[in-house]
Amino acid sequence: MKNNEMLTLSSHKSKAVFLINNGISLKLLTIKVNSKLNYLSKDYISSNSKISHPLFSQHGIGDYFLPSIVIEALDSSMVSDFVFDHYEETKGYSTSSPLPATKNKGKGYSFFYLDKRLQALLIINVSAFKDCDGFSVSSSIKNVGNNIFKIRKFSSAQIDLDGSSPTVYSFDGSWAHERILHQTILNGGRMEIDSDTGSSSCFHNPLVIVKNDSTFYGLNLLYSGNHKTSIEVGDQNHIRIKTGINDFLFAYEVKSQETFYAPEAVIEVSDNLDDLSLNYQGLIRKHILPENKKIPPLLFNSWEGVYFNFNHDKIIGMARKAKDLGAELFVLDDGWFANRNDDSSSLGDWFDNPTKTGGIASLADEIRSLGLQFGIWMEPEMISENSLLYKKHPEYAMTIPSRTPIRQRNQLMLDLTNDEVLKFVFDSVCKVLDKTKASYLKWDYNRNFTDVFSSQYPASEYGYRYIVNLYKVMKALTEKYPQVLFEGCASGGARYDLGILSYFPQIWCSDNTDPLARLYIQSGTHFGYPNETMCCHVSSFMNDISHHSSRLEDRFNIALAGNLGYELDPTKLSRTDIQSIKKQIEFYKSQRSFLLKANSYLLGDYCNSAFGGFELVSSDKNKALAIIAITGSYQGSFFLKGLNPRYHYTLNHGSESFSGLDLMKKGIPNVPPLKISGSYTCKLKTMRVLIEKTKR
Ligand code: GLA
Repeated sequence: MKNNEMLTLSSHKSKAVFLINNGISLKLLTIKVNSKLNYLSKDYISSNSKISHPLFSQHGIGDYFLPSIVIEALDSSMVSDFVFDHYEETKGYSTSSPLPATKNKGKGYSFFYLDKRLQALLIINVSAFKDCDGFSVSSSIKNVGNNIFKIRKFSSAQIDLDGSSPTVYSFDGSWAHERILHQTILNGGRMEIDSDTGSSSCFHNPLVIVKNDSTFYGLNLLYSGNHKTSIEVGDQNHIRIKTGINDFLFAYEVKSQETFYAPEAVIEVSDNLDDLSLNYQGLIRKHILPENKKIPPLLFNSWEGVYFNFNHDKIIGMARKAKDLGAELFVLDDGWFANRNDDSSSLGDWFDNPTKTGGIASLADEIRSLGLQFGIWMEPEMISENSLLYKKHPEYAMTIPSRTPIRQRNQLMLDLTNDEVLKFVFDSVCKVLDKTKASYLKWDYNRNFTDVFSSQYPASEYGYRYIVNLYKVMKALTEKYPQVLFEGCASGGARYDLGILSYFPQIWCSDNTDPLARLYIQSGTHFGYPNETMCCHVSSFMNDISHHSSRLEDRFNIALAGNLGYELDPTKLSRTDIQSIKKQIEFYKSQRSFLLKANSYLLGDYCNSAFGGFELVSSDKNKALAIIAITGSYQGSFFLKGLNPRYHYTLNHGSESFSGLDLMKKGIPNVPPLKISGSYTCKLKTMRVLIEKTKR
């Protein structure tokens, strides 16, 4: 091997450069957008050679930043000494990991490190996507010796940077307020953005963006369980960013010849936030979402309209009206099975309640005979104590012997690490799909882990094993039912992550359908996820969560920025609302082929001003839809984004045309003053502008 060998991985607009010093140590020299690479001279390399920028870090070698890898040996020591061994070039790297993986990776490198004492082989695979921007990192540790060891910590990816006060963009919240953007300048110390709820959580999304020295680094994981991203600012102008599974109460035993796989990380680098978000949109569409993804039908969901209070005639009445308004799919949400009339019972009893539905199979047929598709709700990972399933199989529940379990929403979780339970889950979903011939399934998950215990595995392995089995059942079901559209849901958007999106192409964004709250929730989500993955429903005039009233037009405009649906009782609409909804749906259908694969931009600066919103631009830039939103008094201009500066565009079919450059630099002309008015208590006003390239 040569001295100072440089390896380069080029993605669309960015590059990662690795340096191998004398064949013995390897570092990530830089990862940057192409335009910022020109200072990468020999001087740069040598002047920085004192600072190591390894791809991972370990404890006990004098590096006092928190390490990315900790392994406990049989003798209970927790020090590792992985030494760089060699590398191999890869093309379209594929993995045997039980976790989801991005598809069609381009050129990459596998870096091999060996710890002789532990007899552990660490492999870090870094690949660049060639048809879109971004890098993938998937790492594994194999036990190549005879002694068991325990992985106590294993981050998926690490980036070391020179710098001192990075800005961290995190997407945090709570139930009904998911993924709200927070910006934190970290002048010193450590910051952790993590979840130990068992899922990716509504509290802290695994998407994290770090800005250092005018470059933005985006990190996300193809993982739906406990995760942690940490950012540490230390001495010598050094920043370390790590992302991976959460090491809190984590320890995983690796036996001889076994391999442990860390979740795949996807990394984006950009010199601006708009491009970073576009990069993620492209990468997720091309390499993460299921391949058989179709245009989603316009759905009406029963939940916010009737909750648990319905019978056969009510549902048919709602479906008939929904069809009249333009719906293509009717979704029967919670409450259709066993004795489920509130949230205190029946989870696990996935059989019909004919007194309520009149027979689920015939109800589904009747809905189809109206010219609608039929969709259904399930919460397959859960069990109610008040259920036949619990009577028969109390051991299926995730509980700790002799401890009264913690209930959330009156329910317990199923122990998915148990293969018998996993089979029960798979069979239950198959039975429901077979019986109803549903073409859509909303897969809900309405609580977090508390009583982690398995008689088979240590509690410290539970979270990882649960998620591996969850993916097993998701994969088996989506393969068995390729025609079914699966939608992920977790008390709204508490499991909005790239693991779920690897199998289910869309996720219920939040239980909060108030348009003002949604502006913030969808804006935060926008940073790392494409708009068609975000399910957004128009609900009724008075919102059941915010208790604010809002204009139908505003509810529609905000929902239009995502994957549109309706969730209200269509039999209770006024004549005016019926006419308006018909027009809305007509408009949506005429535009959706471009909307659902558009490049999505955030407009305005919703964190610092009263102007926010979204702009969806077709990839050829011939068409765009802007949704302008004001949340208070705003006097400034409404600048557009992403247009071709040289093209001319009309606005809302007007006769005048304007250059793309002017629309982006001067803003939309002649906008009548946009004011929040009327007696609505939701303080939001929106405006929709359809921007079309002129023919000349
Ligand atoms: C969760 C979901 C809702 C609805 C209810 C049903 O809260 O987020 O959309 O399906 O469960 O119980």
